[in-house]
Formats: sequence, structure tokens, C-alpha cells
Amino acid sequence: MEELRLNYPVKPLGTRTRRELTVAVLGAGSRGFEYTEYGKLFPGTLRVVAVADVNAARRDRMGDRWGLPADRRFGDFHELLAAGEKGRLADILIVSLPDDLHFEPAMEAMRQGYDILLEKPMAQTEQECRALLKRQHETGVMVAVGHVLRYAPYFLALKAAIDDGLIGTLVSIQHQEPVQFAHMAHSFVRGNWRDSKATTPMIVAKCCHDLDILKWLVGRPCVRATAEGNIALFKEANAPAGAPARCTDGCPHEADCPYSAIDIYARRRWHLHVFDLNRDSPEEAILEKLRTTGYGRCVYRCDNDQPDHIVATFLFEGGVTASFTMDAFTPWGGRRTRVMGTRGYIEGDGTTFTVYDFKKGTKASWTFDPAASNYKDNGHAGGDLALVRDFLEAVDTRDFSKLSSSLDASVDSHVMGFACERSRNR
Ligand SMILES: NC(=O)c1ccc[n+]([C@@H]2O[C@H](COP(=O)([O-])OP(=O)(O)OC[C@H]3O[C@@H](n4cnc5c(N)ncnc54)[C@H](O)[C@@H]3O)[C@@H](O)[C@H]2O)c1
Repeated sequence: MEELRLNYPVKPLGTRTRRELTVAVLGAGSRGFEYTEYGKLFPGTLRVVAVADVNAARRDRMGDRWGLPADRRFGDFHELLAAGEKGRLADILIVSLPDDLHFEPAMEAMRQGYDILLEKPMAQTEQECRALLKRQHETGVMVAVGHVLRYAPYFLALKAAIDDGLIGTLVSIQHQEPVQFAHMAHSFVRGNWRDSKATTPMIVAKCCHDLDILKWLVGRPCVRATAEGNIALFKEANAPAGAPARCTDGCPHEADCPYSAIDIYARRRWHLHVFDLNRDSPEEAILEKLRTTGYGRCVYRCDNDQPDHIVATFLFEGGVTASFTMDAFTPWGGRRTRVMGTRGYIEGDGTTFTVYDFKKGTKASWTFDPAASNYKDNGHAGGDLALVRDFLEAVDTRDFSKLSSSLDASVDSHVMGFACERSRNR
């Protein structure tokens, strides 16, 4: 089969804005830090001028990085918003707080006139999503939702290949989100997203990116969504005999358990940022966290309710169908996608996709190479910083069309997720 290369150019990061835009940050954890680093990578684009975080170490890490005075370092997010009552503290507000603290600050910040980068999920219920949209329409501020995959060069090129008709007319899509076994245990069994009621159901909390990508690739409204899924493994009934409450309590199965917290955090040294530790931290400091936080718990003895596997189907206007699976039990994360058209087929792994043409008998590939652009190796295949780039451009020019993940666009994919959850629980 003749092998070709597709040429979809990658838009570089670091586009100049007419002026440096000022940013206030609610939640200086992983996401808040990652987004604002754009201003350090590309000086003159954004500058952090205020931060709120209840965690003093994180607040000061960001405060020190940007040289903020004491009166611009806030604890609870309400304090920063109260300080903005007499006039906004910045052009932009980044809301990178936990899932249950998105709706309230976003509603208030819109009232105060901030343009907002709002982390996903935008809110915890469909009603709240619609209330956000209503307020955004009333206030006319710009809101970008953290659907970073839309900005990743790989997904942009994949969408261009479909829109350019390389596979004829789109008929159906198979999309998989492999979560990775240890990531599942870390975030959705032991960690912050384990309780669907305190955060959002898995299909929204983890998979709203994927539902959003499906809807975006198809380019038409979704008219029906269904889902199945449950907890196959992470429940009390599966606890092996003699397993104690914590891996650090001398569990007889520790050496053989793929989900051992000692293995994941202390030996492999994964996910240590939640403890504000890193790969070079002493083992004793990590073990102490496992003895004293939820991350040391036996995966069969947690207060988790998120399914570890989901199968969902979608019908879009015009008849296009999509199937989606979220799978905890995989060795890697990322995304895998197959796209079926009337004249061809696409298979992609999140970095490379290949287009097969039925009539010509050719296959043509496209690969995202961060080293060949100025993306370096940053989050979500370049999507994190590319979202910041496009958001800054949109705010700078007041051109809403530069913003792919607007609230209008993002409400739909959240609604698809809530519909799936209703279907799964019916
Ligand atoms: N777009 C994506 O791909 C993506 C990826 C991961 C997480 N997220 C979302 O981003 C959000 C933040 O996730 P994260 O991983 O950065 O979490 P994080 O825990 O690292 O950061 C959240 C920060 O908020 C602070 N905080 C909590 N309550 C507060 C309050 N009342 N006032 C001020 N600060 C408060 C915490 O101390 C913490 O530092 C979550 O909603 C998450 O679902 C999005």
C-alpha cells in the first residue's frame, strides 16, 4: 500500500498580544500553575497579579513566582472576589478550583466583568451549566472552558482531515479513553474524584473531554446518548483475605498488588504532586503521606462510587453514530480513535493518525512532533498551552470566534455526559 504523509501545519505557541494581559488565579494547584506558566514561557503575554488558594504553600509558590505583594495573596476564593467588588483585579480570572467550586465563583466573576478560563467540568449539574450560559450571554464576557483537547495539534489535524473529506462522508466513530490502572486508583478510587456526588459522575469528570471531542468532530448536535458501566474491581467484596485498611499496615498482598500505594507512590514515584512532593523526595516523606492521607488506603476499602468501565453510544443529527469506552484497566492513558467514512478510514493513537483511502489504496499519516514546533513536552499533547494561547488572542481582540471551547459549545458535551449518567443509572 502506498504510504504518504499528510501536511497539516501546527500553529506555534507564543502569539503576541497587543498588551500583556493580567490574570487572577483561583486555585494555584496543578492546573492553575500549568496555565499560568505560559506567561513565563512567553513573556509579555500574561502576568499573574493576584492569587487565591487555601493551601498557603501553593499560594506562596505562585505568589513568589510572580512577585506578588501580600495584599494580592488571598486564602479562600471568596476573599479575592470580594476584593474585586470595587473594580476587577485583572483582565482574566482563571478558575482552577476543585469541581464543586466552579459554578459559584464563575457566576460571580461574570457579574464583575472578568473574562474567565473555567476548568472543566464547568458545573456539577445541567441546570448550573445552563445558568452559567445565561449569565455569560447577559454579561457578554468571554468564557473558555478547559476542553484542552480541542486545541491539541493532533485533534486539530484529525478534525481537518475529516472536514477536508479525506474519508468521504463521516458515518461513525469509535473512541476510547484508556485511563491507566494506577491513574484510576489515584484519582478515581483514592483521590479527589472518587465520589461522584462531591464532584461529578465519571462520564463528566473524566470523559467530558471525550464527549466534547466527539461532538466537535461530528459537528452536529447529539440527539441521543446512552451508557452502561459499573465498578468491576474497586469494592469491598474484592478485598483479598487479610488486607488491612492501608497498604502501609503490613498488607500480606502488597508485593503482588498492582494497586499498592507503596508501589505507585514510593517505588514508581507517580502522582507525587498531590503531596507537593517530587521524584527526589525522601521515601520516608512519601510513606508518611500514605499513612496519613486517603492515598494510602486499600483500593478495596475506599469511599468511591465511580465506575471503572463505561460503554456509551451517541446518535447525532443526520444519523452519524459514535461509540465510546472509558477503561480503567489499561497500561497507558491518552486516547485511541477510529473514524469510519464512506470512502476511507482513520485510525489514531493520540500522537499519530493514519488515513486509509479505499479507492486509491493509499495510507497517509500525520504525527505530532513537539520537538519540531515550540510546544516542548507539555500537557494534553500540547492542548493546555494552546488553549491559553487562543484564549489570550480571543480576549485581546474580543474575537469570540478564536475560542473553540466557548460556554455555548461546552454546554452540549456536559449535557451529553449527564444524559449518559441518567441512562447508566436507569
Ligand atoms: N482540563 C483538564 O484537562 C483538567 C485536568 C485535570 C484537572 N482538571 C480540573 O481542574 C480543576 C483543578 O484541578 P487540579 O488538578 O489543579 O486540582 P488541585 O487540587 O491541584 O488544585 C486545586 C487548588 O484549589 C485550592 N482550593 C480548594 N478550595 C479552595 C478555596 N475554597 N479557595 C481557594 N482555593 C481553594 C486547593 O488548595 C488546590 O491547590 C478541577 O476541577 C479538575 O477537574 C482539568
